Amino acid sequence: MLGFGLGARTAHYTALLDSAQPLDWLEVISENYMVPGGKPLQMLDRLRERYPLVMHGVSLSLGAVAGPDPQYLKSLQALERRVRPLWLSDHLCWTGVHDRQMHDLLPLPYTDEALRVVVNNIRKVQDVLGRQLLIENVSSYLEFTSSAMSEWEFVARVCDEADCLLLLDLNNIHVSSVNHGFDAQAYLDAMPAQRVRQIHLAGHTDHGDHLVDTHDHPVADPVWALYRRALERFGPVATMIERDDRIPPLPELIAELHIARGIAAEVLDSRCELA
Ligand SMILES: [Fe+2]
Repeated sequence: MLGFGLGARTAHYTALLDSAQPLDWLEVISENYMVPGGKPLQMLDRLRERYPLVMHGVSLSLGAVAGPDPQYLKSLQALERRVRPLWLSDHLCWTGVHDRQMHDLLPLPYTDEALRVVVNNIRKVQDVLGRQLLIENVSSYLEFTSSAMSEWEFVARVCDEADCLLLLDLNNIHVSSVNHGFDAQAYLDAMPAQRVRQIHLAGHTDHGDHLVDTHDHPVADPVWALYRRALERFGPVATMIERDDRIPPLPELIAELHIARGIAAEVLDSRCELA
C-alpha cells in the first residue's frame, strides 16, 4: 500500500517545504515542469527531496489518430528521467487535432476503431518510456451515437490490450454516471482489479440536471461511498485528492485526506478479518 497523497499545487509549496507533512507522496502535473531550467524545476527538485513523486500529464492525447506529439514525448521522457517517479499517468481522451491543443480532456467514441488508436498510442508511449503507463478515466458531458460498447468495457479492453495500468478517478465515474444515467457500481465491478494502481478523489459542481467535474469542492458523499466499494473490491490502492480551484489551506486538504485514511483502515481491516 503506497498510502495517501495530494496533488502538489503552487499555493501549498511553502507549507509542503517548510515542514514535513503527513503525506506519503505527491502528484505533480508533468507539463508544469517541461521547461528548461528556472524556478519550476528548482521547486520540483526541492519537493522531490522531501516526498516520493508521481507524474500526472494532461496533454498526451492518447485518443488522437496522429499519435503522441514526438516533441512532447521527448520532454516527457526527459522529465521522467529527472524525477524517476513512482509511476506516471495521463488521461484516456483526446485533447486536440491538427496541432491544435484544446486544453480539455475530450471524450472518445467507444468503438473498435478508437480502441485500436488508443492501444497503439499507449504502446508507443510505453516503448519510449520503458515502463507501464497509468491511464485515467475522464468525466464527460456527451456520448457518441457511434459507441458500440460501454465506457467500462472500453477502459477494461484498453488496459488489457495495451498492457497498461489504471488510475481510477472515482469522482469522474460518479459525474459521468449521473450525466449519462449509468450504474457507477457496474463500472467499478468491470475494472481489472490487478491493474488499478491509483485512485483520484475530487469534488464537483451540481447544476441540478448535470454535474461538472470542477475540483473546487470537498469530495461528495456518493464519491466516498464509491471509494469504500472500490477498496472492498480492489484492496489497498494509493489514494489522493485533487483540488484545482477554491484551494483551501493545506491542513484542510490533509484533514479531508484523513477521511480517506479512515475509510481505508475500516475496509481493509474487515477484509483481513474475512480472510
Ligand atoms: Fe482525476
